[in-house]
Amino acid sequence: MGVPVERRRFDTLILGAGGAGLRAALQLARAEARVAVVSKVFPTRSHTVAAQGGVNASLANVTADNWHWHMYDTVKGSDYLGDQDAIEYMCRAAPKIVYELEHFGVPFSRLDSGRIYQRPFGGMTQNFGGEQAARTCAAADRTGHAILHTLYQQNIRARTHFFDEYFAVDLVRDEEGFILGALVMAIESGEPLLIEAKTTLIATGGCGQLFRTNTNAHINTGDGMAMALRAGIPLQDMEFFQFHPTGIAGKGMLITEGARGEGGYLVNGEGERFMERYAPHAKDLASRDVVSRAIATEIREGRGCGPKKDHVLLKVDHLGAEVVNKRLPGIRDLCRTFLHIEPAETPIPVFPTAHYVMGGIPTDRFGRVVTPARHGPEEGVPGLYAAGECACVSVHGANRLGGNSLLDILVFGRAAANHIIGFLAEHRYHRPLPGDALDRPLERLARWDQKGEGETVAQLRADLQKVMETHCGVFRTEEVMREGIGRLKTIRARLADVRLRDFSRAFNTARVEALELENLVDISMATMMAAGARQESRGAHSRIDYPKRDDGNWLKHSLYFLDGDVLDYKPVRTKPITVESFPPKERVY
Ligand code: FUM
Repeated sequence: MGVPVERRRFDTLILGAGGAGLRAALQLARAEARVAVVSKVFPTRSHTVAAQGGVNASLANVTADNWHWHMYDTVKGSDYLGDQDAIEYMCRAAPKIVYELEHFGVPFSRLDSGRIYQRPFGGMTQNFGGEQAARTCAAADRTGHAILHTLYQQNIRARTHFFDEYFAVDLVRDEEGFILGALVMAIESGEPLLIEAKTTLIATGGCGQLFRTNTNAHINTGDGMAMALRAGIPLQDMEFFQFHPTGIAGKGMLITEGARGEGGYLVNGEGERFMERYAPHAKDLASRDVVSRAIATEIREGRGCGPKKDHVLLKVDHLGAEVVNKRLPGIRDLCRTFLHIEPAETPIPVFPTAHYVMGGIPTDRFGRVVTPARHGPEEGVPGLYAAGECACVSVHGANRLGGNSLLDILVFGRAAANHIIGFLAEHRYHRPLPGDALDRPLERLARWDQKGEGETVAQLRADLQKVMETHCGVFRTEEVMREGIGRLKTIRARLADVRLRDFSRAFNTARVEALELENLVDISMATMMAAGARQESRGAHSRIDYPKRDDGNWLKHSLYFLDGDVLDYKPVRTKPITVESFPPKERVY
C-alpha cells in the first residue's frame, strides 16, 4: 500500500450529512450500529438546510387526501418515467415519516386546530386530477432548516460519530465487488483517512453547480455520483435536470413554490397572468417543468419584464404583510438582502433556475445500488447503498414535484438504513482489505497535490458551467448539444493541466475545489450525452427538434457509463406493489 494511512472501522459509513444521510444515521444508531457520517461541511450546513416549501404527505389536514392520490400526482408529474413500485412505497410511507419528524421535534407550522400546517404545491390534486390539494407540510418557508437541525440533534443524542469537514475521495472495494468503505481526506490537514465499513451509504446530494445560475449551495458538486461512476456504476436518467421556475432573476436564489401555494402568481411584461394560457386548470401551480417552459417561452417571445425583458414577475404583494411575515418570512429576508425590496409591496423578478437532478445512482426501493444492463442482469453492489438526490430510485422520473424531495430523502434514507440493519446481521465481520485497495484513491489525491501550469480551477469551473447553461438548458436541440459535448471533451482535456491556487499547500480547500471540478466534469458529460441521445420531450427534458413525448421508443431509463462514455437503457418499472398501474396519458394541467 506504500504510504501508511490511518484507518478507522465502523459498521456503516455514510457519505453526506443532509437529510438522507442523517435520517439513515439516526435509524442505524438507534439500532446500535456503529455509524460514521462524513461531511465536507459542518452537518447543519448541508444543502437540505435550504429546502423551503415543505414535505408532501397525505395527512388530509387541510383538504381531503390519501396516499393513492399522491401517488397518481407523482406518476403524472414524472411524465410516466417514475418507477411505480418505488412511488407507491414513498407515498404510502409519507404520513408516518412526517409524524416521526413531529415526534423528533421538528417545529412544523400549525393550523388553528393544532394540526400540522399544509400548503398547496404544484401538481398536487385531490381525487386523481381534480381540485388542488394542500399536501405540503411546512415549517413556514424554512422546512429543510427545521428538519436538518432536528435530525442533527437527534443524531448527537444517539451518538452517531461525525467526521466534519472531511472530503470523500473514492470508494474502496475488493475483487468480488464488495464495497469496503472509502478513502477520505481531512480538509484541514490534507491527511488521508481510510474508513473501513461493512456497508457504505452514499448520500452526498445533488450537482446543481453544473450550471452557472442555480439555487444550490456551492458544495453541490455531485461528489458521490462521480465516485460511483469511477467505481464502474452507471448514472441513470441524468438528462432530466429540473429548472425551478422562480429563482431570483440573474442571481438564482430560490423563491419557494410555497409563494405561489400561498396565492402568489406570475405576470409577464404586459401585466398578463400568462399561466392561465399554459395550464388553464392548475395555472401557477402546474408542474414545475410546465411553469419553467412557460416563463422561458414568454421571454423568448418578447413578453419579459424589465429593460432587457429578461425575467417575469412573481406577485405576492396582494397577500399582505401579515401572510408574508407569517408564511414566507425567509422569502421576505431573501428579497430584502438580494433585491432590496419588500415582497409585500413590490413584485419579485424571477427566472427559471437550475435546481434539482432527477437522475443519479441507480437504486431499488431498499436503497441498494443496482448495476444494470451493461453488466448483464440487474444486480446489487454488495455493501453499497445510495439515498437522496444523488440516487435515482426512481420516484421523480422525468420531473419531480415540489415537496417530494424532502420526502424522498427521508423515506429512502430510512429504508436504506432498515435494509442495512438486515445486511449487518448477516455480515458480522469486516472483509479483508486487498493490498492494492488504496492505490487508486491515493493516486487521485496525489494528482491534486501539485500546482499545474495551466488555467485556474475557478476559470475552468466557470467555463464548464457556461457550457452547460448554453448547451443543456431549458430548451435543447441536437446541434447545440453536439457542440456542447465537443466543448466538454475539451474541458476534460484542459483539466489535466489545471493550476491550483498558489497557496494550495497551506489551504487544502484548493485541492477540494480541484477534486470537485473533476467530479463536475464527469457528471456534465453524463448529463449532456444522455440528453443528446434522448430524441423526445418528456418532463424536464425539452427538445425543440423532438417536441413530443414518444412512449413507443423512449419510455425507458438511460444509463451512462464513464468507461468509454457509453449509454445503455433499462425498462421503467410500471407495476406498483399493490395497486393498478397508472398508464401513460397526455399530461395536461
Ligand atoms: O419551491 C420550493 O420550496 C422547493 C421545494 C422543492 O424543491 O421540493
